[in-house]
Amino acid sequence: MSSSIPVRRFDTLVIGAGGGGLRAALQLAQADAHVAVVSKVFPTRSHTVAAQGGMNAALANVLPDNWHWHMFDTIKGSDYLADQDAVEYMCRAAPRLVVELEHAGVPFSRLDNGKIYQRPFGGQSQNFGGDQAARTCAAADRTGHAILHSLYQQNIHAKTHFFDEYLALDLIYDDEGTILGAVVMEIETGETMVIEAKATLLATGGAGQIFRTNTNAHINTGDGMGMALRAGIPLQDMEFFQFHPTGIAGKGMLITEGARGEGGYLLNKDGERFMERYAPNAKDLASRDVVSRAIYTEVKEGRGCGPNADHVMLKLDHLGMDVIQKRLPGIRSTIQTFLHIDPASESIPVYPTAHYTMGGIPTNRHGQVVAPLGQTAEETVQGLYAVGECACVSVHGANRLGGNSLLDIVVFGRAAGNHIIDYLKENRYHRPMADDSIDKAMARLSRWGQKGEGESVRQLKDELKKTMEDFCGVFRTDEILAEGVDKVIALEARLQDARLQDHSKVFNTARVEALELENLMDIALATVCSAHARKESRGAHSRIDYPDRDDERWLKHSLFFKEGRKLDYKPVRMKPLTVDSFPPKARVY
Ligand code: FUM
Repeated sequence: MSSSIPVRRFDTLVIGAGGGGLRAALQLAQADAHVAVVSKVFPTRSHTVAAQGGMNAALANVLPDNWHWHMFDTIKGSDYLADQDAVEYMCRAAPRLVVELEHAGVPFSRLDNGKIYQRPFGGQSQNFGGDQAARTCAAADRTGHAILHSLYQQNIHAKTHFFDEYLALDLIYDDEGTILGAVVMEIETGETMVIEAKATLLATGGAGQIFRTNTNAHINTGDGMGMALRAGIPLQDMEFFQFHPTGIAGKGMLITEGARGEGGYLLNKDGERFMERYAPNAKDLASRDVVSRAIYTEVKEGRGCGPNADHVMLKLDHLGMDVIQKRLPGIRSTIQTFLHIDPASESIPVYPTAHYTMGGIPTNRHGQVVAPLGQTAEETVQGLYAVGECACVSVHGANRLGGNSLLDIVVFGRAAGNHIIDYLKENRYHRPMADDSIDKAMARLSRWGQKGEGESVRQLKDELKKTMEDFCGVFRTDEILAEGVDKVIALEARLQDARLQDHSKVFNTARVEALELENLMDIALATVCSAHARKESRGAHSRIDYPDRDDERWLKHSLFFKEGRKLDYKPVRMKPLTVDSFPPKARVY
């Protein structure tokens, strides 16, 4: 079968055109590597475009700061699950990479003295847990938009080759497990193509679409994670899914943490600033897991607002029109569009919303994908790299700090690009193609080749998202999670009987949705099974039946394998590169 498929050859294939993919591609293209970027949407529609509040870097433009404090906050924010070598690497690189972006054309907001504007964000401190820091470099509240457009323009200039609106179906790998590229499909025509590459980088973003109420674009279906699972690679720490405290209530759209960074605060139905009870020092700028749990608790205990007492209010009207227009113009426009109110004069109804996949494809700090080899050792998967939200390097551990995701994609996109440049020097030739894995990818596609009678893909997807929301949310118990596991397994079985319906008008679009649902199903299973297995509370994983963190038994990363839904564990890398480690301690804000 595979012999009839057209083949294109590149040094490197980058799958995904968000900030991570484009930063890596830029590094490669500027080093004269022949690089292809495959993106299922036009590149500047990738989800990085939606990142609002900013990118962390200890520039000290507003308040005293240094990378070591940033490192401490990130590790504390992660509830000590982050790998400390990777965190040190990221925090040290941050200031240089912000300046590099500025030189690449990112229009950061400015202070009166001309320096880059920085706002306070959650979980940031001076001097290892002292006063609030101001570390988040922002382009108003459209920072991701500015970064993505600049990186795209730089890639066009560097002659990166783009395959726009192509869906990557599966990785191609030989008997030794070396990755040789991927099978992709042009969405408009349904034509398939093999892209052979000496190195392949997955940068496909997160999987927020496993939850019904979320901040994510519809494209965030975890395609790279699904491809990795099908190639036998496990997913790490999938139980840790971030719920952003301030989604528009009932709808889920993101209201940036920058709104609280600029001085906004949360109120319950009694007009009380309730965060003072949950986080006496940091208050509304405690880390996201803490604020989300507080909102959820206020509502559960009857202090919610509105006719159904099902949300709290975010107050911004005291900030004044000048600050709102200058620092939060996108937020004002989103609220006017979706709620028909003006945040300059009215408070905003908010509730936690699914936001960020902390887990993902396990990598080291060079972006190389690592697979376990027994209990303590691991080996790199030859020819395969992953960066950004689809990867788990792990700098976010059990809870990511706001502003660290844009940083993550730029730092590790660049690091992976650099490592691939060296890899290409040692791997100068394409290896022989492996027809078996091409045939497998084609079989997966042809399963969705016809319309017919059967379960509806859309219906199954809606049920999956509702199930994950009801059975794998902010607070969890053994009973709820066990039921969630059973329900997702039942949905997975029903997916085998699903068909594209006769009324699916746009055939390839319907086919893409079905292929995406296969990825979502695998990722939902990885998430709920990993959550069921972890019998402690840590970061975003909050177990009512195991309310405490248990470092003795659970200071370890989980690994979920598709085959047999097996779970394994590996140690956290506690040793930083050059400084002393931060040992776990009680986490209070
Ligand atoms: O709240 C926000 O602007 C989101 C930022 C982030 O997730 O890093």
